[in-house]
Amino acid sequence: MDLYEFQARDLFASHGVPVPPAVVAETPEQARAAAAEIGAPVMVKAQVKTGGRGKAGGVKMAATPLDAASMAEDILGMDIKGHTVRRVLISPASDIAEEYYVSFLLDRASRTFLAMASAEGGMEIEQLAAEKPEALARIPVGPATGVDRETARAIVTAAGFPATVAEAAAEAIMKLWETFVSEDALLVEVNPLVRDANDRIVALDGKVSLDDNARFRHQDHAALAVTDCADPLEARAREKGLNYVKLDGQVGVIGNGAGLVMSTLDVVAYAGERHDGLRPANFLDIGGGASAEVMANGLDIILSDPDVRSVLVNVFGGITSCDAVADGIVQAFRLLESRRDPVNRPVVVRLDGNNAEQGRAILDQADLPGVRQVHSMDGAAEAATELAAAGA
Ligand SMILES: Nc1ncnc2c1ncn2[C@@H]1O[C@H](COP(=O)(O)OP(=O)(O)OP(=O)(O)O)[C@@H](O)[C@H]1O
Ligand SMILES: [Mg+2]
Repeated sequence: MDLYEFQARDLFASHGVPVPPAVVAETPEQARAAAAEIGAPVMVKAQVKTGGRGKAGGVKMAATPLDAASMAEDILGMDIKGHTVRRVLISPASDIAEEYYVSFLLDRASRTFLAMASAEGGMEIEQLAAEKPEALARIPVGPATGVDRETARAIVTAAGFPATVAEAAAEAIMKLWETFVSEDALLVEVNPLVRDANDRIVALDGKVSLDDNARFRHQDHAALAVTDCADPLEARAREKGLNYVKLDGQVGVIGNGAGLVMSTLDVVAYAGERHDGLRPANFLDIGGGASAEVMANGLDIILSDPDVRSVLVNVFGGITSCDAVADGIVQAFRLLESRRDPVNRPVVVRLDGNNAEQGRAILDQADLPGVRQVHSMDGAAEAATELAAAGA
């Protein structure tokens, strides 16, 4: 999971890395109040999980709280490389003397961790690595030895940081390594790490990527998964751990495997051309292991969309066999009934692949209300759109 700059800043602060004060604002008025509290001039910085924010016009300096409000107004809602800005970070404008670069990352190619550092920070590191590779120091860091003071000093020397800040930079680098290890990060990057006019070292921008496989030992990381869904159904689906994207059509779609669901969207759209131009209402990949609960939650979310007139369940049994999926569907219907929210729109089911015959027999026997089986994908898409058109 990638973190926003403001989240990276908070993690850094909790590990003693020097960071500037900062306040997150979601409206121009909040930005104005934050700037007044912090004291202008301030930086207004777009919070999006992509690089090059400054170049895109998402990092601006504001001389007064009112300027901060109008800049926030410009930046909020801005699209930066496909990411919509929903928050800005308000932070004091530092008096920067020099900008450096520091990062720790997992270097899969050499099967170790790697420290990268440069006295020429600020600009995009990919560009620096390509144009001036000698200016970017790369120091392997063994997982067992880590970064002690000696290693931190070696990184500072290799990067060519000036002597006036060498100790402070080494201190910050040790704390960044501590952040990297104790938070189970895959990347910790500071660009720029600055020397201010008083020779203090401050991390002015942070990027952190956490290892999701280590989430079980970080209860507090769950709170970092900020839901940025504009759509309330997507937000609900995310809470339930479903891979759901709301679309604007009328035929609900559930499938196993992202590729199969994508192609199901295509065949539904194609069939829809013959039925009033109906279209898929959503993307929902239930992945492997279609448990009754996942199926019930999926159907529940899809049927909460008032535009949905029919549902197509398209499953190709692989490791998860079709009889397990069929059991899941039967139990999902019972579960929704027991929640007093029974399935009330037609559901077309196509089962194919591993144990398809057994799965189909289970559904035949269960005789669920509104469920129709069609054994081909095209046929199932046709049936689902036809039922949706009839249900208009
Ligand atoms: N608090 C600050 N005070 C003064 N200048 C700042 C401050 N924060 C950022 N800047 C300036 O703006 C530049 C860009 O800021 P920042 O590194 O946060 O964004 P970016 O590099 O454009 O985004 P990204 O790192 O996501 O690509 C910095 O290199 C620095 O010169
Ligand atoms: Mg940066």
